[in-house]
Amino acid sequence: MKISVATEKPFAPKAVELIKEAVKDAGFEFGLLENYENKSDLIEIAQNSDAIIIRSDKVTIEVIEATDRLKVIVRAGAGYNNIDLEAASEKGIVVMNTPGQNSNAVAELTAGMMIYMARGRYNGKSGTELLGKTLGIHAYGNVGKKVATIAIGFGMKVSAFDAFVKKEDIEKDGIKAYSSADELYSNNQYISLHIPANEDTKESIDYELLSKMPKDSVLVNTARKEVVNEDDMLKLMEERDDFIYISDIAPVKRAEFEKRFPNQVFFTPKKSGAQTVEANLNAASASAFQIINFFEKGDTTFQVNK
Ligand code: 3PG
Repeated sequence: MKISVATEKPFAPKAVELIKEAVKDAGFEFGLLENYENKSDLIEIAQNSDAIIIRSDKVTIEVIEATDRLKVIVRAGAGYNNIDLEAASEKGIVVMNTPGQNSNAVAELTAGMMIYMARGRYNGKSGTELLGKTLGIHAYGNVGKKVATIAIGFGMKVSAFDAFVKKEDIEKDGIKAYSSADELYSNNQYISLHIPANEDTKESIDYELLSKMPKDSVLVNTARKEVVNEDDMLKLMEERDDFIYISDIAPVKRAEFEKRFPNQVFFTPKKSGAQTVEANLNAASASAFQIINFFEKGDTTFQVNK
């Protein structure tokens, strides 16, 4: 049985070592592909492995159809919109994620980016503070909860909306819960996005919703670029020079945003939310043991393509 790591954006070396040791201790073979540039490399490792551990790597139908050996794909992380689940199910491949393992790192980046822009990228001019500002958390999952804790520490007025979490469960954490996205966006200067990318959420953050935000508003996206309607965002920025868009997942129209609205946008050079040693170790360890438990005990906890 061969278990391979196939990551275009590598884990910290310590995390790779951890996977390698766990795999070898369990008596399996270990494979490694990092920093690859061609899809053919991903196809090759998928053909020669029984399980692969990936990150945002695109496991398309082409990759899945090319392999007859692969039995498990573990997305070391939360979002799995980069994997063709239907194609995997067709081939009998189990797909799992590792929810919660990298959420603190993403939440800390959210806070860091809010401060960075509130302080005008540290340009020496007077900025603003987060204390006393309103923050709406759109989707109250693992990351959203951690963002709430950090923001409460800053003295922000925190609220949340999640279509799948009961208001009373949100309010247990001492924060206000809204009944709709409309209400959330209308009542908060800052919005932090944590919704997954799927058919229902694609481009759902649109002109109508964003234009409800009050003066000097800031949208922080550490979720997925696909959930934001980029043309609508451009239209809004054209009308409102007080609107700021911060994202860890650069939009498709990044160059246009940066050229037309240089003071209103910040995009990380490379998606960095989960890129900490701690998050890598957590996600790597969970991935390795989920695969080992699958092969040894048939454990399919965290399967996402049932
Ligand atoms: C996730 O879904 O877990 C995060 O977006 C992290 O993605 P990454 O592994 O590509 O950094």
